[in-house]
Amino acid sequence: MSKAPKLVVVGSSNTDLVVNCDRLPQPGETVLGGTFGQYFGGKGANQAVAASRAGAEVIFVGACGYDEYGGKARAALKLEGVNLHYFRRLPGVPSGVAVIMVGGKRKENVIAVAGGANEELTVQMLEEAKGAIQKADAVVAQLESPPEVVAHAGALAREAEVPFLLNPAPADVVLEPDRASAARRKPTRQAWKQFFQNVSCLTLNETEAELITGQKDPKKAVAALRGYFKLPAAVITLGKKGCLVSDEEGEKTVKAPRVEPLDTVGAGDCFHGWLATGIAEGMSLQEAAEHAVLAASIAVTRAGAQPGMPWRHEVVGE
Ligand code: RIB
Repeated sequence: MSKAPKLVVVGSSNTDLVVNCDRLPQPGETVLGGTFGQYFGGKGANQAVAASRAGAEVIFVGACGYDEYGGKARAALKLEGVNLHYFRRLPGVPSGVAVIMVGGKRKENVIAVAGGANEELTVQMLEEAKGAIQKADAVVAQLESPPEVVAHAGALAREAEVPFLLNPAPADVVLEPDRASAARRKPTRQAWKQFFQNVSCLTLNETEAELITGQKDPKKAVAALRGYFKLPAAVITLGKKGCLVSDEEGEKTVKAPRVEPLDTVGAGDCFHGWLATGIAEGMSLQEAAEHAVLAASIAVTRAGAQPGMPWRHEVVGE
């Protein structure tokens, strides 16, 4: 890499409290014999770490509380070389926490998040990072931050003519800004389409793709994302099968190497952080996706979202 690409990541920071067990319990059931781990997480912070280890210069825009979780999450990101100038500490709110279970043969996960300070990130706070966005090679976001902030990140990126890469995870969200009073309802296809208007590349898993497009088959889902949703590029991650990429160059499946998974938490974030770094470096979507698939296949063999992210030399050998 001749010059490190500059990324602005807008998103969440959590502390992950993880129990890894042989199988995931059913509602009302207790499963014994698990092991416990506490890791730095949050989709935004995970993607920031993935990109930093991939070789990008990363500025993180987010919020945490003044509690111990927030302090430690900040210290960990600092050690990763992430710029924390726009990672705000907010009084009177707890930092984000995720309670996670990992289990089964493929070490799949279920996650419940108490967003805390992540939900208090505002458009005004993001505006302070406008200068950084104007100088960035790519802007990255997910949906653990308020949707109006994510939409504004897209608008600022579009204004600055910087690619905006969105990972709409989780996709089970209410897009309207009046969420507190609004009845909880799924966004319509039209609402998603409007929300994606500034997105250059959408990266999502099969569950998210089905929620948004209504299509279970990833090929049909990707066709809908490029067609009805008018996305210039879309990538659907397929777990152990790799991913499906589609842009103006065409459609292609990128296969993943066979690995023995230990912990899949953060694998999608690893993928998105690496994909964004590749695109910011000027790679084709397919080339960036090849790196992202390799990186994610390493991440799933390691415990913890942020500690499990691979380093550049492990993926590209330089
Ligand atoms: O994508 C994985 C992440 O989702 C976890 O680190 C957890 O914090 C939740 O945000």
